[in-house]
Amino acid sequence: MKNLNRRQWLRTAGLAAGAAAFIGPSAVAGVPSFSDYLRKIDGLDLPPGVIKLSSNENPYGPSEKARQAMVAAFDDACRYPFQERVDLTNKLAEKYGLSPDHILVTIGSTEGLKITALTYAIDGEIVTADPTFEAMLYYAEHFGAHIVRVPVKEDMTTDLNGLDRRISNNTNLVFLCNPNNPTGTIVNARELQQFCEATSRRTMLFSDEAYYDYITEPGYPSMVELVKKDYNVIVSKTFSKVYGLAGLRIGYLIARPDIIARLKERQVERTTVLSCHAASAALDEQDFYRFSLQKTNEAKKIIYDTLDELGLKYVPSHANFIFFETGREIDDFRQQMMDLGIRVGRPFPPFRKWCRVSTGTIEEVQQLRSALLKAFS
Ligand SMILES: Cc1ncc(COP(=O)(O)O)c(C=O)c1O
Repeated sequence: MKNLNRRQWLRTAGLAAGAAAFIGPSAVAGVPSFSDYLRKIDGLDLPPGVIKLSSNENPYGPSEKARQAMVAAFDDACRYPFQERVDLTNKLAEKYGLSPDHILVTIGSTEGLKITALTYAIDGEIVTADPTFEAMLYYAEHFGAHIVRVPVKEDMTTDLNGLDRRISNNTNLVFLCNPNNPTGTIVNARELQQFCEATSRRTMLFSDEAYYDYITEPGYPSMVELVKKDYNVIVSKTFSKVYGLAGLRIGYLIARPDIIARLKERQVERTTVLSCHAASAALDEQDFYRFSLQKTNEAKKIIYDTLDELGLKYVPSHANFIFFETGREIDDFRQQMMDLGIRVGRPFPPFRKWCRVSTGTIEEVQQLRSALLKAFS
């Protein structure tokens, strides 16, 4: 059996049809798994003293109120988070003016990406921009999905017309990350609205809004508006970024109740009691939210100024990271920055001479500035 994968073995044993329904799709040989992907993101050892600017976290979190809420909930950590999740779902429903049936709290928004792939596209086709946030794509591809990647435009924005041209009868889902990771770009608001409305009449549209809070354009639309109008749209949100709770693994999906019900069938686990309490407190706390945005903008200004000084090209960002052109192979540049005490983001092919760097605290960004000045001296 050594040279047969599980699917081939089942086929030769005549068991494929029945068993496939039972065990689900099997991995595609040679395609990296999601755990390989996670290792690639952050698998490098982080030596003491090295500043981590590689995962777009918010170093100011958790806020004081979120900390207090977790401490107050310690005694309940011996319980499963049934009521806590219901309470948070209700609170989120209220925030968006939707019913609780429109919301699914997930273990980080990554779980939302995974169960969406499982529900809609695991053996099918996903159309998306390239480069973009790969979690859903890697996961689905590993189990046999076909990913149609449409290169971003010259200005690094997502090519909506290009995506539209590649959508076919085979397409199960369009993955749109807006603001996009790693480019930090958003698409034109009117074009976004038109694209999402038209696309969701043809297939499922997934709008990953992990960085929505950082958008600087006033009145920029969230695709939650289309959920309210019953379109085929799933929106994902997270507490990992502006709320500073990445380590607590909590996010949520927003979609029509029938879509949420299907997604829920693929969920087997819940986030934690402490995460729900922290997220709930975070939603109430406007001061920390504003503080996070202000500090991110200050940090971005320092990075922009440094890149301008060095004459390095960058993409103005609507997120908590900046994508810039180093002119050096990213693996070499990453090592060079590690030697200077900073871990920057992973490679984002085909832009192998570009680097994504996250905003840290002002002190961390000042150290990034010194490291960049040294690296390009
Ligand atoms: C675009 C995008 N979506 C989703 C995530 C996953 O976030 P989490 O699982 O922490 O909610 C990230 C993380 O960096 C991201 O960049």
